Amino acid sequence: MTNFLFSNVDTIELATKYGTPLYVVSEDLIVDRCKEIKKDYIQKFKNTMVAYASKAFLTKEMARIIKREGFGMDVVSGGELYTAIQVDFPMEKIIFHGNNKTREEIEMAVQNGVGRIVVDNFLELKLIEEIAEKYNKKMNILFRITPGINSHTHRYIQTGQIDSKFGIPLDKEIIYKFINTAMNSQYVDLKGFHFHIGSQIHENTAHVKAINILVKLAKTAKEDLGFITREINAGGGYGIRYGQGECRKPISYYTDAMMKELIDGCEKYGLERPMLIIEPGRWIVGEAGITLYTIGSIKEIPGVRTYVGIDGGMPDNPRPALYGAKYEGVIANKIDKKPIQNVTIAGKCCETGDILIWDLNVPQIETGDILAVLSTGAYNYSMASNYNRIPKPAVVMLREGKDRLIVKRETYDDILKNEI
Ligand code: LLP
Repeated sequence: MTNFLFSNVDTIELATKYGTPLYVVSEDLIVDRCKEIKKDYIQKFKNTMVAYASKAFLTKEMARIIKREGFGMDVVSGGELYTAIQVDFPMEKIIFHGNNKTREEIEMAVQNGVGRIVVDNFLELKLIEEIAEKYNKKMNILFRITPGINSHTHRYIQTGQIDSKFGIPLDKEIIYKFINTAMNSQYVDLKGFHFHIGSQIHENTAHVKAINILVKLAKTAKEDLGFITREINAGGGYGIRYGQGECRKPISYYTDAMMKELIDGCEKYGLERPMLIIEPGRWIVGEAGITLYTIGSIKEIPGVRTYVGIDGGMPDNPRPALYGAKYEGVIANKIDKKPIQNVTIAGKCCETGDILIWDLNVPQIETGDILAVLSTGAYNYSMASNYNRIPKPAVVMLREGKDRLIVKRETYDDILKNEI
């Protein structure tokens, strides 16, 4: 019998050793993605930076890997920043995001000396100035701009449109007030501008358009205010493969096009080319993760469908319920058998919408089989919940054919531990 190998490791052996449900993450695949970014972006173009978007998947071990790869890291909360601090992540490589950072979070960022804070609103700008003054520091900042672009992705993960909770509208009166305030402040150093237009985007056109808009902003801000843009941060959003008909494009598909637009625009307007920062999250870890489940009940509703119950579901993967996300899966212990039936993979929550995969072609399926759901590396563990008081799965990391536990499986007592 042949079992499904992921990153050269037998997934059935992993399921037996660690139990299910189980998140499995391949360090080899993460390192491959990092290599590609270094070769085709960092080494290809001067004055560039990569910050891994840690919201996609973050544990201390992941932060250590990103640190070792030499990338920066995008954090969006005190919790993500705390994780980075715990592994001595170089603070100057941290980019701190968020549309409503609290005073405590800004204080933490200033005290620890993060490299850049991406400012989303005026209250935040004032808070940073106040806190930087208190600690006698000058903080590097960028302004997050809403470029007014609709990217082709799910409505819930679009962020570049005008009607968005993120960013500063590209209205001259508004943005100039921000720039003037920063230029007159001794506590902030405004480096430039940031945009993030959305996630799981397969075309580069929206990113290129956003660069074009920011170059125009750099031009007018220079002419009108004498402000020199030294950095443009283009966020992340590069798509990966979840199912048939989708593919992960090379990073250069996005970065070459953005860089060309930036260089051309700067030449046209006589600007010095600013540093270009990218923040890929999903593109680095999405396909590097799978989730293993054990098949339980199999319920055939004659003439309707067959529901196959698994020992996990929306608590470990809320994406199908939230975004209608589609996943591919394989029966890991029957990888060499031909598909003969179409089934629906149902999670174990008390919730009709807890369906992981609506239509999956599988061989003859039996209780006790192991299902591997693919491309679960991004926004699964990081978005997991304890709904129905289901403990979160363990996380196992694979490297060169070896496995190591990086996050223990939660226990019922873990769920109760803060209760009085
Ligand atoms: N930079 C900023 C400022 C962001 O807000 C994000 C994602 C990224 C970078 C990384 O985007 P990525 O390269 O991973 O697409 N939970 C949703 C995705 C939300 C993304 C939020 N921001 C999902 O599961 O599809």
